Amino acid sequence: MSDPNAQSRGEVTTTVSGIPAPSDEHSLTVGRDGPVLLHDTYLIEKMAQFNRERVPERVVHAKGAGAYGTFRVTNDVSDLTCADVFQPGRETPMLARFSTVAGEQGSPDTWRDPRGFALKFYTRQGNYDMVGNNTPVFFMRDPQKFQDFIRSQKRDLRTGLRDNTMQWDYWSLSPESAHQVTWLMGDRGLPRSYRHMDGFSSHTYMWVNGDGRKVWVKYHFRTDQGNDFLPQDEADRLAGENAEYHRQDLYDAIDRGDYPSWTLNVQVMPFEEAAEYRFNPFDLTKVWPHGDYPLIEVGRMTLNRVPEDFFVHVEQAAFEPSNLVPGIGPSPDKMLLARLFSYPDTHRYRIGVNYNELPPNRPHVPVHAYSKDGAMRSVPPQVGAVYHPNSFGGPDAGRQEGTDPASWPVDAGEIVRGAYTLRRDDDDFGQPGSLVRDVLDDAARARLVSNVAGHLGKVTDDGVTGRALEYWRSIDRETGDRIAAALDRG
Ligand code: HEM
Repeated sequence: MSDPNAQSRGEVTTTVSGIPAPSDEHSLTVGRDGPVLLHDTYLIEKMAQFNRERVPERVVHAKGAGAYGTFRVTNDVSDLTCADVFQPGRETPMLARFSTVAGEQGSPDTWRDPRGFALKFYTRQGNYDMVGNNTPVFFMRDPQKFQDFIRSQKRDLRTGLRDNTMQWDYWSLSPESAHQVTWLMGDRGLPRSYRHMDGFSSHTYMWVNGDGRKVWVKYHFRTDQGNDFLPQDEADRLAGENAEYHRQDLYDAIDRGDYPSWTLNVQVMPFEEAAEYRFNPFDLTKVWPHGDYPLIEVGRMTLNRVPEDFFVHVEQAAFEPSNLVPGIGPSPDKMLLARLFSYPDTHRYRIGVNYNELPPNRPHVPVHAYSKDGAMRSVPPQVGAVYHPNSFGGPDAGRQEGTDPASWPVDAGEIVRGAYTLRRDDDDFGQPGSLVRDVLDDAARARLVSNVAGHLGKVTDDGVTGRALEYWRSIDRETGDRIAAALDRG
């Protein structure tokens, strides 16, 4: 917050160049009632600055809230990864941002949507970002489909309205969305607050230990506040009463010292096992059964500081799955590999090429990058000369023994466009079906039916409704029938 006592301390308003400003109230005019003059440069500065106050909002996940905190390691997983952030006893400062996906900046926090769960760890090896969601799966397994999917969830071209018909049209034409849609239409699609939801990497990542041994991991940040949800009618009411309900909840909790925390657990799959597992473990529409891969505790993140300036620290925060540190690498998940390109690209467009110099993105370690210039550059390169090799003591890139994680065996073959090779249990409806039958209890199943029926009830195309009902019957016949009955289409 700006200092409310500044006036009483007798400080003088200045221009952005620090020059004493002529007036907070009056423009320069020819006589008291005459025209405004162009050489009132202070007025012009105020108008021009104002006109440029907005940067583009994030193309997705535009509405959110962020807070600073720490991540503390509580278990010894050094046999699994040499990443500094996960070494025994280590405490690392961090930034978290939670968000909805499809809504714009002013949209209500309590719309049904997956929630973003983006984390930036300021580690001793540079920034490590984990950009996940509150669901362990996603709507598709190939990045070619992401843009189409998002357009179906955003606004209609002609009317500018959100449109349930577009949403169900896309989903019902894309069976691979079934698992994520089942999560979305259940309680997890409307968390009570950001504090009452889990976070997942969703993707599989690679961990590498000090001996160069690799494993595959999935992250689960389990809320220490307990999972809780909003019933649809309460969420609808809150959407009208307080569009910032979740943001406010997070900041109120931190301000009263009730710091929210999450415990990080990982599922670990031996490196070689991935090749033979009964379904493709890198498919983003699948979870790994806990019976096969139990959770292993790693540490706890606690959020304890509301940023002093929302725009500086939250709007300008740039999370990017490509920020991977030694000991952590990507996996053959095609979605993840595409995301490694997408995020730095969107940051360069949205907040400028030198976005890493901005306070929330600035690494807490010295940067020795051979990059220079560009809009708003303020830190000269710390490399002696701006080319490599040089004779002036510039840094050399060196692979650390055993920690280059971006490698796994691939089939040597033709360059193709095609789906993942199918394995025995690679189907779209099996896992969502078990979620409905084996994980949800009767009350949660009833809410799922009611949520889907309410949402589908706004679809205006009969064919789309019919196809959506078949989609639900493929997930679980009884659930599909109950939704149909609720819509009088039994
Ligand atoms: C935000 C692209 C899939 C989680 C974004 C943004 C883009 C994007 C362009 C805006 C970033 C910004 O302006 O700061 C994509 C593409 C995807 C994809 C191309 C698939 C190919 C996913 C998946 C997850 C995810 C699978 C979760 C597992 C997020 C989160 C944010 C975000 C949490 C908000 C980050 C923040 O708080 O600033 N995504 N995304 N995205 N995405 Fe994705």
